[in-house]
Amino acid sequence: MAKYKIAWMPGDGIGVDVMDATRLVLDAMKFDAQYFPADIGWEFWCKEGNALPDRTIKILKETDCALFGAITSKPQDEAKSELAPELQGKGLSYFSPIVKLRQLFNLHTNLRPCKSYTGNPLNFRGTEVATGPDAKEQLVDLVVFRENTEGMYGGVEFFPLPKSVFDALCVNPKMKPFEAKGLENVALSTRIMTKQGCESICRQAFDYAKKHGRKRVSLIEKPNVLRETGGLMTRVFRNIAKEYPGIRADEANIDAICMWMFKNPQDYDVLVAENMFGDIVSDLCAGLIGGLGFASAANIGDKYAVFEPTHGSAPKYSGMNKVNPIACILSSKLMLDWLGESAAAQKLETAVARVIKERKVGTYDVGMKNTTTEVAKEIAKYASA
Ligand code: IPM
Ligand code: MG
Repeated sequence: MAKYKIAWMPGDGIGVDVMDATRLVLDAMKFDAQYFPADIGWEFWCKEGNALPDRTIKILKETDCALFGAITSKPQDEAKSELAPELQGKGLSYFSPIVKLRQLFNLHTNLRPCKSYTGNPLNFRGTEVATGPDAKEQLVDLVVFRENTEGMYGGVEFFPLPKSVFDALCVNPKMKPFEAKGLENVALSTRIMTKQGCESICRQAFDYAKKHGRKRVSLIEKPNVLRETGGLMTRVFRNIAKEYPGIRADEANIDAICMWMFKNPQDYDVLVAENMFGDIVSDLCAGLIGGLGFASAANIGDKYAVFEPTHGSAPKYSGMNKVNPIACILSSKLMLDWLGESAAAQKLETAVARVIKERKVGTYDVGMKNTTTEVAKEIAKYASA
């Protein structure tokens, strides 16, 4: 029997391409796993009215962890119009299966390391005005801790609002202008955060910093405007920071940090944020290390984890064997780490770094012409040597 049981969820679009490439690498490394293919994504929404079928949830429950490629998400109206004719008008509503997965399995922590590898022509070089046209690459090594189940993406939304909810909100005097617009004209998305959720994500960021010898943890919030939720997160962060005296703890507003990180990315180290702010800032961090083709992620709970590249399904490149597989391959490196296969994880990362540095092969995003498979094969060669 294989040592690990891995749920295998390519999803759709380029999810399939990058997962095939990742498998090629894991197999070359002789990673001792049995893979359990599981259905997820747009196709199953259209055909079955459910992008995350129950049979997939069952597979996840029976495996150690999962690797996931990408899925297409579309706004509600478009999603409904693409449903199979027999499913239309049945009141089905679409929601992102990855967001649902995170909630269902309480994958409370989204870990997103953003590290640049020497030689990547897409590495951030600062702004041209400040650094000139021959600017050297600025290597960044950031880790984002994104709260993954609460906040703005908690999914508690209404349109139209039930009257009882609308009336209850009207207790707050700030509702006056909305009340005047009329119940039928108001949509509501909530930002619900708990002390437990804030504590968990902040603690993990600090624990990680301590374990990996990192010097600084920065909270990304907006407590001057989001006074209650942002306020709670900030209080919790400050309290937990006291337990880690060797680590510099500081706070920045989401808007300001987007500017500062673009100016001085090497100043930052570990970042911690609520769900939506973490989503936003992790794409910014991905941009600093060469784009989404290099950004890996881990959705981690107490007992289960789902590993996925940060990028989406890019349907226009689907099946073309064209896109960069490195984000997905690095996500499988995070999986190896989580499983305790540290030596294999290290070896895989070293292989990726070497391929990036050598520039013998590369996909279109780094200005080269190799296929997804060719890049994976080159990484596999070094990772299995
Ligand atoms: C991500 C993605 C997802 C998210 C989408 C696809 C629902 O943007 O993982 O960052 O917002 O979490
Ligand atoms: Mg995102």
